[in-house]
Amino acid sequence: MFERVNRAPDDPILGLNEAFNADSRTEKVNLGVGVFKNEDGVTPILDTVKEAERRLLQGETTKSYLAIGGDAEYGRQVQGLLFGSDHNIISNQLARTAQTPGGTGALRIAAEFIVRQLDVENIWVSDPTWANHGAVFRSAGLTVKPYRYYDADNQCLDFAGMLEDLETAGSNEAVLLHGCCHNPTGIDPTADQWQQLADLAERRGFVVLFDFAYQGFATGVDDDAEGLRTFAKKVPELLVASSFSKNFGLYNERVGAFTLVASDRSVADDAYSQVKTIIRANYSNPPAHGAKVVTTILADAELKAKWIQEVADMRQHIHGLRKLMVETLKDLGVEKDFSFIQAQNGMFSFSGLTPEQVARLKEEHGIYIVGSGRINVAGLSSKNMRTVCEAIASVL
Ligand code: LMR
Repeated sequence: MFERVNRAPDDPILGLNEAFNADSRTEKVNLGVGVFKNEDGVTPILDTVKEAERRLLQGETTKSYLAIGGDAEYGRQVQGLLFGSDHNIISNQLARTAQTPGGTGALRIAAEFIVRQLDVENIWVSDPTWANHGAVFRSAGLTVKPYRYYDADNQCLDFAGMLEDLETAGSNEAVLLHGCCHNPTGIDPTADQWQQLADLAERRGFVVLFDFAYQGFATGVDDDAEGLRTFAKKVPELLVASSFSKNFGLYNERVGAFTLVASDRSVADDAYSQVKTIIRANYSNPPAHGAKVVTTILADAELKAKWIQEVADMRQHIHGLRKLMVETLKDLGVEKDFSFIQAQNGMFSFSGLTPEQVARLKEEHGIYIVGSGRINVAGLSSKNMRTVCEAIASVL
C-alpha cells in the first residue's frame, strides 16, 4: 500500500540542513535554519543553562508525568516574561499557560483552539511569513490568507497595505502577528504602529495570535514585548505562542508555551479546559527537561540577571555581524545599497536575493540560504564573512 504514497517536497528550512550535511565541500556555510552560532561556528549552550542543568541533575527525584498543561511555575514565569510580573493580567489571574513542545507545538495548539472552539475558519498571516506557519495552520484546518507586510522596493514595512488588509479582517477570523524580529524580514512595527494595530484589532474584533519566538533578540527582553503589551491594554482576549529555542539556546529540547488571556477568570478556566483536551489528544502531556531549565533560570534572580546578559551578548554579536556584512559588501565594490541589513531585527536578513541567486550560492559556493532570500545572519562570523560576501557579490 505504501507505494501509493507520493514523495513530499523537502522542508524549505530544515530540508536545507540535510542537503548541507550531504555536501562534501569543506568551505560550505549554512545560513539556512535560524540558529545562533559563535565565532567558531558552534551553537553554544548558555552558561545559565549549564548551571540550571547541574542543579536539576542533583535535585531531580522523579521522571513521572507532568500535568497535561505542564508545570504551573513554568506558566507563571512565562507570563512574567510576556507581560511583566506586576501586570494586572497576572494579578487578576486572567492568563493560562500550557507548556508545549517548542513554539511550533504552541502554534498547533493555538490553531486547533481557534478552529474547534471559536469556529474561526481563516487566519491572516503576513506576506511573507515563517515558511512553516501555513503548514501548521492548514493541518489544523484553517485557511491561510496573506496580509501585506513587506515593501520589497524600499525594504521596509508596508504599513499602509497591512492596515488596509487587516481592516477587512472580521470577528470570525484570526490574525497572526510576530511579537518581534519578524521572520523572515527582520522588520517590526514601531511603537506607534503597534498602537494603531491594537486599535484596529479592538475595532474589528478578530482573534489575535502572537508568535513570540525571538524575545530579547531585537532590543531587550522587556522592550521586545512592547507590541504584545500594547495589545494587552486594548484587547481583552489574546493568544500567544512562545518559543525558548533561541533566547535560551534550547533548540533541541523543544521548549515552548501556549498562553491565553481572557476577560475574566472563569472564562479563562473554561477556555483552558478545552486547551487541555487538545493537548491530551495530540501528545498527552509535555516533555519536562527544557521547561525545567527555563523555570530554574527565571525563578532565580541571579541566574535570571545572567541570562538577560547572555541574551544581550547574542543580540549584540548579531548586530556586529550586520554592520560587518554591510561594510564588507561595500568594500567589495557592491553597488546595491545593503544598509537596510543593519536596520533589521533578530537573526534574519531578508536579502532581496532572487531564487536563482540563492541557487547559485548553493551550487557554486556551498552557501546555503532559504529560497526566499532569507539569510541567517547569526550563522555568519568574522571568519567566514568575506567568503560569503564575495560569493554574494559574484551572484548579484
Ligand atoms: C527558522 O525559521 O529557521 C527557525 O524557526 C527554525 C525552524 O524550525 O524553521
